[in-house]
Amino acid sequence: MIEKWVFFDLDGTLTRSEEGIWNCVKYTAERMGFPVPDAATLRKFIGPPLISSFQQYMGMSEEQAWKAQSVYRERYTTVGKFENQVYPGVRSLLRALKRAGIHMGVVTGKPENSTRSILDYFGLSRFIERVSCASDARADKDHLIRAVMPGQDAEVWMVGDRCFDMEGGVKAGVHTLGVTYGYGSEQELLDSGAERIVHTPWEAAEILCPGTAVPAGAFLSMEGLDGSGKSTQIEKLTRTLEKFGYEVVHSREPGGTPISEKIREILLSRENTEMSDVTEALLYAAARAQHVRERIRPAVAAGKVLLCDRFLDSSVAYQGAGRQMGVDRILAINAPAVEETLPLLTVYLDLDHRTSLQRRSEASELDRMEMEKEDFHARVEEGYRELISRNPERYVVVNARGDREEIADAIAKAVLKKLMEAED
Ligand code: TYD
Repeated sequence: MIEKWVFFDLDGTLTRSEEGIWNCVKYTAERMGFPVPDAATLRKFIGPPLISSFQQYMGMSEEQAWKAQSVYRERYTTVGKFENQVYPGVRSLLRALKRAGIHMGVVTGKPENSTRSILDYFGLSRFIERVSCASDARADKDHLIRAVMPGQDAEVWMVGDRCFDMEGGVKAGVHTLGVTYGYGSEQELLDSGAERIVHTPWEAAEILCPGTAVPAGAFLSMEGLDGSGKSTQIEKLTRTLEKFGYEVVHSREPGGTPISEKIREILLSRENTEMSDVTEALLYAAARAQHVRERIRPAVAAGKVLLCDRFLDSSVAYQGAGRQMGVDRILAINAPAVEETLPLLTVYLDLDHRTSLQRRSEASELDRMEMEKEDFHARVEEGYRELISRNPERYVVVNARGDREEIADAIAKAVLKKLMEAED
């Protein structure tokens, strides 16, 4: 089988980098006493070499443009390069190509230091075998492609979002694939020699690796006593994961599907005071069975990260420990509901039950579960502790009384590590 290589441009193809680039151009203009370019002009800075952009779009002399480049890099190398996000779908594309044995590289007009630290920061380095970056002496894409070309009989593609990528590919004699989700238009890509055009990263996977299946996503859950701040942390974690290119979908238990939401109403209604413990446990399991099949499994199979507010652990803690039904009985009731579907990682927001009670009563009206007495919630807290001590590697435990941003950072770090380890 002949070797296949795919070279990706970075800005506008793997990462959406406008925020960092624009902030750095504005900073440079201010520092050098030039008027700050308008939005349309700022857009033009993504793709071509900086030296020519400073001259062409801001009217600088060549000497001023070199000075501007070093001012720009001062900010870019410390802050700007991380004001950046991986396009949704790019991780799935890279994973699918790697799984198919396709070699990958990055060919970019950025300097090597920034390129490598961006790839490292976003956990993309493991997919990329070769990197070819612009230097002050050499910035043309065809030269950059030639510098990393494999042997003669390999099939080679250049993938990019601007005319520079397509023209470079044509000159270097490789196949060209233009992506329209970046900064160039479809017309620009066609005019500069794009052989194929795609509108999403996954369409690129279908061309570069026909017949490939989307790599599986992941299932994560968030647990904690009522009032531990799960909703806030779910929002924060979602924003971070999206920056890293993960496609996140939310769900909750009990609930997450129309049938499960109806069961939720029965479970939480303050009118249902006569509900027996067994009924309660079975209803949570029934809602879960539907949720697993209708929502969780399909989302993970479609490559998404499904982030769920509560899952099986809640039943173990609330019904197993809180209602004193026993852990094994709860696991037995839930076995047919979940089968092998368990979270890759569970975030536990650790809050003592007294603080939880105080926070709950200050918030909205209490539901049927929240109306339970203090000793019930003390047992739930103990139930979670027991679960975590039995299986510590499945949990990230964070102190829910700490600073929100620090909690969010600790969660993001642990979750990203686990997600990246699970990426084939
Ligand atoms: P919810 O309003 O979602 O609580 P929170 O906002 O604290 O997540 O209500 C869910 C309630 O149901 C909560 O008190 C915990 C309880 N519960 C169980 O008792 N067993 C379970 O299996 C699940 C999923 C939740």
